Amino acid sequence: MAQRESWATRTGFILAAVGSAVGLGNIWRFPFATADGGGAAFLVMYLAFIALIGFPAILAEFVIGRKAERNPVGALVAYGGNAWKYVGGIFVLIGVVLLSYYSVIAGWFIRYFLEGFRGSYASHLTSYNGDAQAMFFDISFGMESVILHTVFMALTIGIVALGIRQGIELAVKVMVPALIVLLVGLAVWAFTLEGAGAGYSYYLSPEVGAITANWTELLPAAAGQAFFTLSLGMGVMITYASYLREDRNLAKDGVTIIGFDTGIAFLAGLVVFPVFFAGDIQPDEGGPLTIFVGMTEAFANITGGQILGLVFFGTVVIGALSSAISLLEVVTSYAIDEKGIERWKAATGVGVLIYLIGLPVTYDIIFLEVYDGFIDAVLLVFGALMVMVLVGWVAPKAAVDELEKGIGDLGTTAQAWVWAIRVPIIIVLVVSLYLGIVEY
Ligand code: PHE
Ligand code: NA
Repeated sequence: MAQRESWATRTGFILAAVGSAVGLGNIWRFPFATADGGGAAFLVMYLAFIALIGFPAILAEFVIGRKAERNPVGALVAYGGNAWKYVGGIFVLIGVVLLSYYSVIAGWFIRYFLEGFRGSYASHLTSYNGDAQAMFFDISFGMESVILHTVFMALTIGIVALGIRQGIELAVKVMVPALIVLLVGLAVWAFTLEGAGAGYSYYLSPEVGAITANWTELLPAAAGQAFFTLSLGMGVMITYASYLREDRNLAKDGVTIIGFDTGIAFLAGLVVFPVFFAGDIQPDEGGPLTIFVGMTEAFANITGGQILGLVFFGTVVIGALSSAISLLEVVTSYAIDEKGIERWKAATGVGVLIYLIGLPVTYDIIFLEVYDGFIDAVLLVFGALMVMVLVGWVAPKAAVDELEKGIGDLGTTAQAWVWAIRVPIIIVLVVSLYLGIVEY
């Protein structure tokens, strides 16, 4: 068998992981999850989750992947024994379902991006009597949605088929810097809007009362969002770390990746909330439609909205693509490692399957809510819990040894990591999972 692929550079690995992390979760999901959770109250809970659970969890996935040098199924088995192949199988399935609807949403963003070339958002809205929701439902379902879903999946398949270095690494080297520059530009522009202040204060002033009163809803929502945004709980970070050939300081890489993802989600909030308030839009209750409806209305009301809207929607597409390739890579690496299928055939085969599973979402939004709600409130939390059980209880010694490679003897810090995982983190995850299932 040919030698397993690997990243050409450390930067390549970090950019790929950042590219995976930063995506619809930051720009499409984070603002509405924040708005549903009451703004800043949610933000506090979410940030705590990222720091206290996201960081130990990303390290856990890294050590599993790097040591095993295999896809999630093979990697979990290598760590925990044969029974873990079922958990690995669930990871691969999550990848399939998650990418299937992720691609349809990305297609909607392509559509809104293209609308910006066809005229101002104000003029588009006029054809729907100013009703942005009617516009969304009109343009986001049916044949055109199928075509854009096809285009997006074809791009994703193309990149993954080209392999780790020629495909993924090359693509993220262009996409991730572009994404960051564009978002920073948008945030600076949003700062100059009239009404920006109201947006910031909605976003950034937590009410302590709101946190304690709603914690049973906030906890699973924050947990789901934290894992979703960091691409945790289904093996992306296991897979990407499996292509690391040298032993590097994974803790440092984890901090970098989480720093970028959180910074960019935060930045997206600094764009979206001022734009909403400047355009006289209330950010609550729109759910998955919030961004499409709210941003379109706002771009219609703001001078320069056409260009800015086009840039905004285009930026989201870039972020979505760099995440989609990581999802497809999980499933592809499984087919390559476990079934011995050639890369390009594997990527195309599973890509087409995923494409077909996504088709119902182009037909009715109800499928999106079913898929998305279940994935992040339940499955990702479950997946993260399994990774924690594996590292905390089944193979803590192997995990610590692997973590110390490239760092050196961690002494009690390593013990703290294991014990944090063993008891408090697992308890929080079990509670989140329970609440998430009840809520769902
Ligand atoms: N992290 C991605 C985002 O925020 C979504 C994702 C989840 C990607 C899980 C891969 C795995 O959009
Ligand atoms: Na993210």
